Amino acid sequence: MIDEIDRIAADATTRAEAAATLEDWRALDVELNGKKSTLGGFKRRLGELDPDERRTVGAALNRAQEQVRAALAARRAELDAAARHAQLAAERLDLTELRPPHQAGHLHLVTQTMERLEDVFVGMGFTVAEGPEVEDDWHNFTALNLPAHHPARDMQDTFFVELGELGDVVMRTHTSPVQIRVMETEPPPIYSVMPGRVYRQETADATHLAVFHQIEGLVVDRGITFAHLAGTIDTFTKAYFGEGFSSRLRPSYFPFTEPSAEFDIQRPDGSWLELGGCGMVNPNVLRNCGLDPEEWSGFAFGFGLDRLAGMRHGVPDLREIMSVDIRFLAQF
Ligand code: PHE
Repeated sequence: MIDEIDRIAADATTRAEAAATLEDWRALDVELNGKKSTLGGFKRRLGELDPDERRTVGAALNRAQEQVRAALAARRAELDAAARHAQLAAERLDLTELRPPHQAGHLHLVTQTMERLEDVFVGMGFTVAEGPEVEDDWHNFTALNLPAHHPARDMQDTFFVELGELGDVVMRTHTSPVQIRVMETEPPPIYSVMPGRVYRQETADATHLAVFHQIEGLVVDRGITFAHLAGTIDTFTKAYFGEGFSSRLRPSYFPFTEPSAEFDIQRPDGSWLELGGCGMVNPNVLRNCGLDPEEWSGFAFGFGLDRLAGMRHGVPDLREIMSVDIRFLAQF
């Protein structure tokens, strides 16, 4: 009887090891392990044996059942692992598709431009500061001498964020709010540039984007004059564009600077390129940041860099700059 039990166990073990699929395994589990299994049948017949024989046959039966259970469990673990591998293989993403071997990507045209501009200003002694793209009304407008209902708020068509009181939270329309943040947190002297992404509610066309980039400059120190502003713009122009370039200022208006100007760059061929705005920091802005205009004065300037990048690289339509087409991006 014990021989027969051992033979049944060996046979069951072989079959368990050979289960090809989870379905096969489940059927085998019921057949070999369940109440109606052959070994189970032996167990029910133990009562017919005399006590000595019952003990040895019982022990053999337990050993056999244990062996079959272990074989089934081992096979189940193998089948589960195989299923997991198959699923992983099926869900695998081929991320090499756009990247031919040995050809790494590079920074985006706008990022390259931003980094070059930062390098030039760092070379002139400026530090780089950053601020949030989602701003509150205070930093984007009010502290910049643009109180509620000021008509100049219309110069910058604003995306509002549905948060807090209506109109409280905006996508920053310029990098000037970073000026406020720097003046609120750092004691002068301040020599900083603030690059970043800005948002205007505008229909994109060849020369405008709704999401674009600016770089801002802020200087606050004792005895800063308009001559320092003009000299800084000109030094920057030559450092970034080249010795053959020069700059000029034209009167303009910004609520946060007084007096204000636009600045243009003259190319070696004599043609002019409008670049950005600038001016002496309005005393109201200094006061809004807790600085005494009798002690401190400063200048600020700001300009968009997407157009600059586009011009430098001969991209006729600014909307292309936002393209994710690898054939466009790979050119720069
Ligand atoms: N923030 C202004 C704009 O976006 C540019 C500017 C910056 C003008 C600093 C003056 C001083 O139009």
